[in-house]
Amino acid sequence: MKILTIVGARPQFIKAAAISRSLNSHLEIQEVLVHTGQHYDENMSDVFFQELEIATPNYHLGIGSYTHGAQTGRMLEAIEQVLLQESPDWVLVYGDTNSTLAGAIAAVKLHISVAHVEAGLRSFNRRMPEEINRVLTDHTADLLFAPTAAAVANLNQEGISQQKIHLVGDVMYDAALDYGVKAEQKSSILEHLGLSSQKYLLATIHRAENTDNPARLRAIFMGLTAVTQNIPVVLPLHPRTRAALLREGLLEDVGKSLQLIEPVGYLDMVMLEKNARLIATDSGGVQKEAFFYRVPCITLREETEWVELVELGWNRLVPPLDAPTVANGILDGFVSFSSSEVPDGLYGGGLAASKIVHLLTKDSIWK
Ligand code: UD1
Ligand code: UDP
Repeated sequence: MKILTIVGARPQFIKAAAISRSLNSHLEIQEVLVHTGQHYDENMSDVFFQELEIATPNYHLGIGSYTHGAQTGRMLEAIEQVLLQESPDWVLVYGDTNSTLAGAIAAVKLHISVAHVEAGLRSFNRRMPEEINRVLTDHTADLLFAPTAAAVANLNQEGISQQKIHLVGDVMYDAALDYGVKAEQKSSILEHLGLSSQKYLLATIHRAENTDNPARLRAIFMGLTAVTQNIPVVLPLHPRTRAALLREGLLEDVGKSLQLIEPVGYLDMVMLEKNARLIATDSGGVQKEAFFYRVPCITLREETEWVELVELGWNRLVPPLDAPTVANGILDGFVSFSSSEVPDGLYGGGLAASKIVHLLTKDSIWK
């Protein structure tokens, strides 16, 4: 049985690492790994392959950065060529990036079965590029691996056949369990940056809605700057955000207050997350990792796909409307977080990858 995995962006390398480990233990399965090249900087791509011991991709499409249409279109064309050559039984796509959508469309047009890991998440904000990618991918997929009960409910609401939907948990939790201890052993980022546990705030920002809107970008970074009066703020800077700060003439000033660092590898990131007093982010993955390590999280957005974390009290939404809203929202988080009991098995208890591989192999019996 041949499974063709498509990855391209940072969080997909982490998700695919968890599943590849599980696939490797099945001798009857051959995995073909395709990297679209959506992310290409050493610290956005290679570092994850090395640290997470992911196999070298069988195909590196080297697509790079373009507008949405051009990027997705180029990927679609290149992936189609690979699919024609490989004829896999399954195409496995992850999350909600342009690489996800291109992989799903290329496969479905060739009548190749599509499996979507992290299916059913919705922000209900159609202006988010990721929302379009998710909806379209879910409606092409033959197997939908939902990480949460809320994701299953969303898919039911959209009329997707029950038989295709499986609540398996979150592969990022598998990764957190696999690599959390390793991070403690291997990472020296705290010493390197001169940080003490619980004595800093960790922030990440990269969503288009926050970086490409100058007013929101300014609100977030002026808000974070105000917070540095109370606690140091460390922020690994996504290349999109660096470019936006440069464009708005903010980079130099912001860099005087915030500890801006280059994007870090996964083990360093885990270490920074585990030891932060609080996390402020617009990242999907980082919101969950905050919870995995039981660090309170402020999400600088209007909505989140991970609604259960807000309901449980581990995550709070602070729409970045202006600098005082951002600063006060974060500072409130230092004094007023209260959380309720976490239900058993939330996010799958670390078994998501093995359940996914089991379902893929089981389903192939009927083909
Ligand atoms: C993409 C995903 C987003 C995901 C994020 C993970 C889409 C629509 N968005 O957003 O869902 O949360 O990845 O990080 O697929 N750049 C570099 N070097 C790189 C990669 C990007 O300099 O290695 C710069 C380029 O200027 C590029 C910009 O970052 O134009 C944005 O990259 P892109 O992959 O288009 O979107 P992300 O914001 O990374
Ligand atoms: N991450 C990382 N280094 C960084 C920033 C993030 O390793 O400098 C990891 C983070 O721990 C999480 C994933 O990247 O596992 C999240 O990716 P990102 O925020 O880019 O995308 P999203 O999850 O929002 O799609």
